[in-house]
Amino acid sequence: MSKFDEVIDRRDSDSIKWGKYAGREVLPLWVADMDFAAPPAVVAALQQRIEHGVFGYGHSSPTLTQAVIDHLQGEYAWQIEAEWLVWLPGLVTGLNVACHAIDGEVLTATPIYPPFLSAPRLSGRTLNRAELRFADGRWQWDKNALENASTAETRLFLLCHPHNPVGRCWSREELLELAAFAEAKDLIVCSDEIHCGLVLDEDKRHIPFASLSPEAARRTITLMAPSKTFNVPGLGCAFAVISDPTLRRRFLRAMDGIVPHVNVLGLTACEVAYRDCSDWHDELLAYLRGNREQLITAVNAQKRAKMGPVEATYLAWIDVRELNLEKPAAHFEAHGLGLSDGADFGAPGWLRLNFGCPRETLNEALRRFAVACATA
Ligand SMILES: Cc1ncc(COP(=O)(O)O)c(C=O)c1O
Repeated sequence: MSKFDEVIDRRDSDSIKWGKYAGREVLPLWVADMDFAAPPAVVAALQQRIEHGVFGYGHSSPTLTQAVIDHLQGEYAWQIEAEWLVWLPGLVTGLNVACHAIDGEVLTATPIYPPFLSAPRLSGRTLNRAELRFADGRWQWDKNALENASTAETRLFLLCHPHNPVGRCWSREELLELAAFAEAKDLIVCSDEIHCGLVLDEDKRHIPFASLSPEAARRTITLMAPSKTFNVPGLGCAFAVISDPTLRRRFLRAMDGIVPHVNVLGLTACEVAYRDCSDWHDELLAYLRGNREQLITAVNAQKRAKMGPVEATYLAWIDVRELNLEKPAAHFEAHGLGLSDGADFGAPGWLRLNFGCPRETLNEALRRFAVACATA
């Protein structure tokens, strides 16, 4: 038995994911956190930090900064400098700060994690969307759509890499084309790489957008966190990596007086997760691969539901348009399954399923999924 098989009851906890369906027989496979305990080394470090008993304002210690630098070098062969780091309480904060900091219109590719759609609006920016296309069995960039969606006013490109919800781990070739596009249009790229530790395909590697070339680095705000990979999103600890000093100053100015210090427990968790948890991480990826195989087989066994490959993330993007449901998410909820509604991602008729859960939970979810499809 794997440690990830343990079913931990989250119903009476403070979980947003489980609280949504309190008192109802609905399995929540929506918001993107996993139903697994954090790595034991992280839990032990947090216990030790709590023992200290003093929880004043925190900042990144030299050992934490070094852990981040070493992690990025070790995992992605990306050499960064300590002063490029800007600590944040979350990536959504980072997306909104980027929209605040950069004057002009914003470009992104849909379907997309909903805060990419709301952040430009919240800063009074016009958002232009380019649709990704599904071709040759996978989601791809549509160069014409990108070209058509960018205007003379576009200044910021919000990139999701790996991409939530379509699960692509963008290749070097694709990233180089995006970098050339950003260069030609003179765009700042805000690259949300929160899922970078969750590449499931063993023949693929995450390539930080900013690591492509000095030109790409100069125009990039990279957003990262240990939160998804090590399942500590509630600890509120993330960071931006911005190598260009002028861009970094603009970003810091937009944060001024609005963005709080990072939670000290989040800082503790980040250091240990990046430094001491690579075995746990390997086991997690193996477990998620097993879940992914089971899920793909079960979903694609349905005549009127289908999904493509999931190269990265623990999120499946499922096409249920053939079920002809007016409210797909509500229909699946009525059959005991809480999924994210594709309409929120800019794609009505699709559903997103979070498979970061014990296999027993997933199997029950897949049973309910089949019944929901059959009764539609
Ligand atoms: C692409 C992406 N960015 C950001 C977030 C959330 O980041 P945070 O909780 O750090 O604000 C998520 C969570 O699902 C996500 O998928």
